[in-house]
Amino acid sequence: MHVPVTAGLHHVTLVARDARRTLGFYRDVLGLGLVKRTVNFDDPGSHHLYFGDAQGRPGTLVTVFEWPRAPRGGFGLGGVHHLALGVASPEGQLQWKRWLLQHGVPVSGPYDRKWFTSIYFADPDGQVLEIATKGPGYAVDEPLEALGQRVIVPGDGHLRGRRDERDIAAATWPEPIAAITPAMALGGLHHVTGITDDIARMHDFLGEALGLRLVKRSVNQDDPDAAHWFWANYDGTRVADHSAYTLFGWPPGVRAARPGVGQAHHVAFRAESTDDQLAFQDRLRAMGVPVSDVMDRTYFQSIYFRAPDGMLFEIATDGPGFAVDEPAEVLGRTLRLPAWLEAERGAIEGALPPLG
Ligand SMILES: [Fe+2]
Ligand SMILES: [Fe+2]
Repeated sequence: MHVPVTAGLHHVTLVARDARRTLGFYRDVLGLGLVKRTVNFDDPGSHHLYFGDAQGRPGTLVTVFEWPRAPRGGFGLGGVHHLALGVASPEGQLQWKRWLLQHGVPVSGPYDRKWFTSIYFADPDGQVLEIATKGPGYAVDEPLEALGQRVIVPGDGHLRGRRDERDIAAATWPEPIAAITPAMALGGLHHVTGITDDIARMHDFLGEALGLRLVKRSVNQDDPDAAHWFWANYDGTRVADHSAYTLFGWPPGVRAARPGVGQAHHVAFRAESTDDQLAFQDRLRAMGVPVSDVMDRTYFQSIYFRAPDGMLFEIATDGPGFAVDEPAEVLGRTLRLPAWLEAERGAIEGALPPLG
């Protein structure tokens, strides 16, 4: 059977307590575009916000469900540990560190991860976020045509307990940052990292279900006893942007992820067309994986299924996109509702908490 290959990440969906606070962080502090304000189609009493680049292109999207009464979530087996947004240069990354600290957001790093450099912080609900540099890339320590074929452990200077934490903590941009600079522009999802207890089984699954290929086999540099593997849309000549999914390998029996506020809800990968999506659905069924019917999410069509470690995955089509129900120049300015909820607009708007 034809094994479709995903072009990469489509979006990640997070859970937040307060949409107004979320908007203040992702739009005003991180500078992402709000490309759609709508409601959770399965629960129209709460906001669903979409952030991304100006057009809301797949691979740049972070979407947020507002669940004011949900318990606090937590990362663990079958959940997302963190998501990383890309920045072009180490200079832009240091500017981010200074800017976030100015906004009262604690930041750790920059850590030289060998393939990129990383800073870490959390959103107001506790979701761990990373800003990672685009380069130098996965081919810096093995041939581009043979990524991920052997385990590579970066030298001592990279590993917790052996690196110079004081120097790392002290590194920042020398001057205050008055506004987000061009160098700080965030280029969409760099990678998403989850937690599994069977990394070899997940390797088989990501290859069979999504066509993803290994681009790095290493250890978690903050926990060197744990494996850390990276997969991507990779054809032996290039690693596609916005396509890296990575897993920490935890020992069996560790705590499971707890759904709730501050814990990512699901990770969506791209299908370039509806035919492509049906091919993924056929493939999953042939593998014996329960998969949903195609659901109309207005801006894309979606199917949902669980990975063997419990992670909720989605495959979402690239189209029709966010300009389907409002002009591309004014995305995200007003509340958009699907046709079947439009008749209830007054009641829905009246019940939604104010967004500010
Ligand atoms: Fe990361
Ligand atoms: Fe989704």
